[in-house]
Amino acid sequence: MSDILTHVDDGVMTITFNRLDKKNSITAAMYGVMADAVDQARSDAAVRVVLIQGHETIFSAGNDIGDFLNQPPSTKESNVFRFLRGIAALEKPLVAAVAGPAVGIGTTLLFHCDLVYAGDNAAFSMPFVNLGLCPEAASSLLAPRMFGYHRAAEALLLGEPFYAEAAQEVGLVNRVVPPTEVNAMAQTQARKLAAKPLSSLIATKRLMKGGQTQEVLAQMDLEGASFGRMLSEPAAKEAFGAFMEKRKPDFSKL
Ligand code: COA
Repeated sequence: MSDILTHVDDGVMTITFNRLDKKNSITAAMYGVMADAVDQARSDAAVRVVLIQGHETIFSAGNDIGDFLNQPPSTKESNVFRFLRGIAALEKPLVAAVAGPAVGIGTTLLFHCDLVYAGDNAAFSMPFVNLGLCPEAASSLLAPRMFGYHRAAEALLLGEPFYAEAAQEVGLVNRVVPPTEVNAMAQTQARKLAAKPLSSLIATKRLMKGGQTQEVLAQMDLEGASFGRMLSEPAAKEAFGAFMEKRKPDFSKL
């Protein structure tokens, strides 16, 4: 069975993380499948809305750390960046259903969604600093804008998780429901959108986003340059080595 499942039904393209044994962590190949799916969604008239979902116990543990170390994203055309640019610039509505942990990109991709539904077990985290890295997916721009600077600093500098209720309070999440209901709820909302006139949805989304999309893409480039450099620096090496060896990282000399 594929690690990413996609299907189109009633105008909704559903993209499902399907790698439960590795907590839906995302490999470069999986990013490639998702980037291609988003490309298809853009041009395929049968797709009016895109929905990203995980499992009721886990949305995604973020980048697959081993895969990431073996094949770090080295150019702007790397699958992860293609995927991120794809969702940031998608004109059609993007919906997410999140239950359980949403780590790293599992949280940052949500900034690019129009509607987000969460299970009451959802735990969001952006532990880039804890990994010796810096934010991605324009989260360094969008988290302060959405949460306010100090709450964003808590999430991005301390890298501590925050939960469904807090995520709803800061505006990252529209509604919190039991985890077993979150995918169905998001699907219902996505189908409601898919039944509306697509041209009006696209025009409304474009008006609401204003000039933000270009700003977001530029921020992703800035972040990508730092992220790429930091990946080969000692702090990230220590953090990733510690994860693989199942021990706590030691940053005391870094
Ligand atoms: N990359 C690669 N493998 C991962 C992974 C990741 N990001 N997250 C989890 N896994 C693997 C674990 O190594 C483990 O594999 P194993 O069974 O072969 O040992 C398996 O998935 C189960 O993970 P485990 O940590 O035992 O599950 P948990 O339920 O106790 O915790 C998380 C779930 C998501 C909280 C925890 O796995 C985690 O924090 N993962 C790392 C998140 C991270 O730092 N991501 C990078 C963001 S850029």
